[in-house]
Amino acid sequence: MAFVEKKLPADAPVVDKALNWVDSRFPLTKLWNDQWGQYYAPKNFNFWYIFGSLAMLVLVIQIVTGIFLVMHYKPDATLAFASVEYIMREVPWGWLVRYMHSTGASAFFIIIYLHMARALMYGSYRKPRELVWLFGFAIFLCLMAEAFFGYLLPWGQMSYWGAQVIVNLFGAIPFIGPDLSLWIRGDYVVSDATLNRFFSFHVIAIPLVLLGLVAAHLIALHEVGSNNPDGIEIKDNLDADGHPLDGIPSHPYYSVHDIFGVTVFLVLFSAVVFFAPEMGGYFLESNNFIPADSLKTPLHIAPTWYFTPFYSILRATTSEFLYVVQAGIAGYVSLIYLKTKLPAFVKAAIAALGLLIIIGMMPFGLEAKFWGVVLFGSSVMIMAGMPWLDQSPVKSIRYRPDWHKTVFILFGIAFVVLGYLGVEPPSPVRERISQICAVIYFGFFLLMPWWSAMGTFKPVPSRVTFKPH
Ligand code: HEM
Repeated sequence: MAFVEKKLPADAPVVDKALNWVDSRFPLTKLWNDQWGQYYAPKNFNFWYIFGSLAMLVLVIQIVTGIFLVMHYKPDATLAFASVEYIMREVPWGWLVRYMHSTGASAFFIIIYLHMARALMYGSYRKPRELVWLFGFAIFLCLMAEAFFGYLLPWGQMSYWGAQVIVNLFGAIPFIGPDLSLWIRGDYVVSDATLNRFFSFHVIAIPLVLLGLVAAHLIALHEVGSNNPDGIEIKDNLDADGHPLDGIPSHPYYSVHDIFGVTVFLVLFSAVVFFAPEMGGYFLESNNFIPADSLKTPLHIAPTWYFTPFYSILRATTSEFLYVVQAGIAGYVSLIYLKTKLPAFVKAAIAALGLLIIIGMMPFGLEAKFWGVVLFGSSVMIMAGMPWLDQSPVKSIRYRPDWHKTVFILFGIAFVVLGYLGVEPPSPVRERISQICAVIYFGFFLLMPWWSAMGTFKPVPSRVTFKPH
């Protein structure tokens, strides 16, 4: 087809002419309208729907502050620590850029955990939003990798020993473990080679993947449309123009809503950056103000708070706890056998796998450290299964039986307690509590196909509930 440019009147404003020129060559207005301007979102969004935009804001803050940090940072084991101190003391506004970046890392995880909690409450991962969730889950993995690699860069004691502990975990994998951790480190201990590769992953590889995934996350969401606190599909009720009756264009309605949220967030964010950037040792640990020393292991090594719920599960896996896990696997396989309609060969395969794992956990089998790593990895990976684990006939928590809310709260408490225990030094009592919480954590997900479908569900309205303010 021949190229045709839309004709505008000669006296049209110059901005319109410029936009017309661009639109004839690149779908700028179309992209804006499809993704935001004319994107009809449910009109009953509440406070929980702010965290997606906030996550995008923090992503931009991290990238921009990161670019400025890289201008002065030296990825060299002999210079890294001093270069960060140089940024803090000598570079004009360097302290601000660095504190924004370190606070941004924790803020990112707070926002993402709340963003995911919203999805859990309103069943936003259910059909047709499975891919929105899976892209989100991949983003979560990338964020964890990004935070882990970035944490080594200041080359403080906690950076060094934290990386040492986590890379050593790979050593617990049978046969390939020791070689694998050597390969990841690039040396026999965490060293300059490790710092260089972690720097490369942190500043370029992971951010690139992250940006691609965020684009995919939003494209997938805007393809199927947003869920809402009622868990109703607004596309089921359209007006004469084909727009959802319960939908409003994102611009200007949610532009205003999000600007308000951004303002509140920036107030809180600034309060932390200016008055408590270390946040009592949770955002920046005191040990990390001591240069890395490969000959001096700190007494207490703990990952940053956002990793600790999963880290606690790793620590909870003692050889004694493996008996509980074995009993759990035996019970779970029996449940699958008795209560599912899976084909017989699938059931047999699951039973064989279960038996193999139970044998592997016997005292003569693989050590508890290895199973700790397996449970640690599984505690993260299991979240990917949410769209299929949840069998509730309704999406939103609003129309589920009241006791489902108790189950969610119990899970939330177990997650927070695991997180808290993970930053504390271990003790016998804490170990027992973390084991109980680990059982609740896995029970929540693994038993979901059954409990989520049980109870008396409330009738779901056909239109969203909305009270104008
Ligand atoms: C860089 C990280 C992320 C960014 C920038 C981001 C951005 C967004 C945005 C802008 C929305 C639409 C507005 C909203 O519903 O809040 C959204 C929706 C959603 N996100 Fe994310 N997201 C991120 C990470 C995640 C993660 C880690 C998950 C889950 C594992 C996730 C799951 C979802 C789901 C299920 C929805 C649909 C919500 C609904 O329609 O009710 N996102 N995301």
